[in-house]
Amino acid sequence: MIEDGVLRFGMVGGAAGSLIGDVHRKGALFDGQAQLVAGSFSRDFERTLLAGEQRGLDSERLYRDFYEMAQSEAAREDGIDFVVIVTPNYAHYDAAKAFLLQGIHVVCDKPLTFSVEEGEELAKLAQDKGLLFCVTYAYSQCATLKQAQMMIKHGEIGDIQVVMAEYSQGWLATAVEKQGNKQASWRTDPAQAGISNCVGDIGSHIEHTVAYVTGLEIDELCARLDHFGGEDRPLDTNAVIMVKYKNGAVGNYWCSQVAVGYDNGFRVRIFGTKGTLEWCQEEPNYLNVIKLGQPRQRFSRGNAYFYPEAAAMSRLSAGHPEGYYESFASIYWKFTTALLKLKQGMELDEEDLDFPQAFEGVRGVKFIHRCVESSKRGSTWVRF
Ligand SMILES: NC(=O)c1ccc[n+]([C@@H]2O[C@H](COP(=O)([O-])OP(=O)(O)OC[C@H]3O[C@@H](n4cnc5c(N)ncnc54)[C@H](O)[C@@H]3O)[C@@H](O)[C@H]2O)c1
Repeated sequence: MIEDGVLRFGMVGGAAGSLIGDVHRKGALFDGQAQLVAGSFSRDFERTLLAGEQRGLDSERLYRDFYEMAQSEAAREDGIDFVVIVTPNYAHYDAAKAFLLQGIHVVCDKPLTFSVEEGEELAKLAQDKGLLFCVTYAYSQCATLKQAQMMIKHGEIGDIQVVMAEYSQGWLATAVEKQGNKQASWRTDPAQAGISNCVGDIGSHIEHTVAYVTGLEIDELCARLDHFGGEDRPLDTNAVIMVKYKNGAVGNYWCSQVAVGYDNGFRVRIFGTKGTLEWCQEEPNYLNVIKLGQPRQRFSRGNAYFYPEAAAMSRLSAGHPEGYYESFASIYWKFTTALLKLKQGMELDEEDLDFPQAFEGVRGVKFIHRCVESSKRGSTWVRF
């Protein structure tokens, strides 16, 4: 029995041992606006049955594949309101399309699709059918980045001139994909990951976070992708990317999976004419702010000096750490709040849709393709 004001969802992917499936599940359940009722958690039906049983799901609602799940759930009176797709990249397009065609709202992980055209098709399908589509670029939903976005909107650091952003990991410094590391094995396989590994996996987070926080639009970029860390790796594990934005500002992005000693060193620095903002995902409760001619300040999440929009994304008081789970929870809170309004026949405004949309997923896929294109052309500038 599901209470009023609680949505039903199902998952594609996210069986035991998956990396992000459980983070999504916890994020979706965090604020009590959704309940998991169905799933095709793995290509292996036994694993789907096991995952469903562990979560007390009705065995009727455990499916052999996502096509069967989309059809059967759409046919039920108590069918799912939305699906969460957390498979490796290769299945995002087919799975998302199957649910959209059945009139079911979609949350899908990034990168959205292999090709830009596939992403555009999904975005159009969702729009034509009046369905919500969220792409889970979760970092941007952290309260301190919302504060950074609001400070920029209010002109607190002036006009942005320079962006420096990096995402450094060291887990692929050796060929762990050949030693049974499941996550490494599909990420380094073009048939499952797409045309890029490193840019697709973590460079895409830089692209989205910078765009969300600053509002800057890329005009041109110049990239060099390298395949370090294993002799015959078919996909990139390191990329340096120079960016020119439409407003004349410039950016420098670096993403790496061979940065020995780094775990998830995602750091963004934004330099404006009147100040600088600095954020690091391994310390997500803090935002460093330096105003022209003033000493460095450390803003601490949960304090009254945060903009209301950023304060609304905090759950705990200052000093009690919030992090990765809460960023996913915020995406699901915004998505489910919008969906509940939609189901009540209410109009959604820009604020309701302040979670990553399908068009942002498409832009992310375009970013990956432009980086690969530039690198293949000998690192020449390519128009975005
Ligand atoms: N937003 C983020 O911060 C973030 C972080 C990590 C991963 N991701 C993305 O999430 C997705 C999953 O990544 P992961 O690291 O969790 O992968 P994973 O290999 O750990 O898990 C993938 C899961 O999908 C299942 N699966 C594969 N094909 C399936 C199919 N056709 N039907 C049903 N289930 C299927 C697997 O059995 C497994 O349970 C990727 O697209 C990745 O880029 C996003």
